[in-house]
Amino acid sequence: MSELIQALSRVDIQERVRFLGRSISKDYSGKNPVVIGVLKGAFIFLADLVRDISIPVRIDFIRLASYGEGTESSGTVEITKDIELKIDGQHVLVVEDIVDSGRTLAFLVRYLKGFNPLSVRICALINKTERRDRAVLVDYEGFNVESGFLVGYGLDFDEDYRTLPDINILKP
Ligand code: IMP
Ligand code: MG
Repeated sequence: MSELIQALSRVDIQERVRFLGRSISKDYSGKNPVVIGVLKGAFIFLADLVRDISIPVRIDFIRLASYGEGTESSGTVEITKDIELKIDGQHVLVVEDIVDSGRTLAFLVRYLKGFNPLSVRICALINKTERRDRAVLVDYEGFNVESGFLVGYGLDFDEDYRTLPDINILKP
């Protein structure tokens, strides 16, 4: 049996998401960015975040597969659902659940820049730094954690635990 230990409460998350929403609203004032959520992990974070953004944004999703059924990135990233909005000449804000090795986002930023957007920035709920092996600049960071496998608030382990309202460390 796996054990869950609460790492971030609903209130911790809510406060931090509000702060991110305010920063984004200020920085993108007058810019109408396209917010691209990375499925599936970012769906709850994105839903909360955009309601704390006070400027108009448009929303799209991309689905990337990088993890198999374990807890470590396979290294190869595959697009299993592409964006649908046109982003050339647009400001793009990528909303991701966790940056771990950085491989997924390094790939995604390179891919999105191929469409000639005006800018690409990253908002990640969790910046997990210990296993980073690609240089990825997280412009808007929710929480910085060193290590540990986290579940809840959209984050899964093998598709379980996504619906937990808080974020927990999964002890094997
Ligand atoms: P990266 O390519 O190693 O940066 O992995 C990023 C992806 O792995 C994220 O989009 C997450 O979906 C997943 N991931 C990384 N760490 C965790 C974790 O602690 N819990 C759940 N998913 C994770
Ligand atoms: Mg993800």
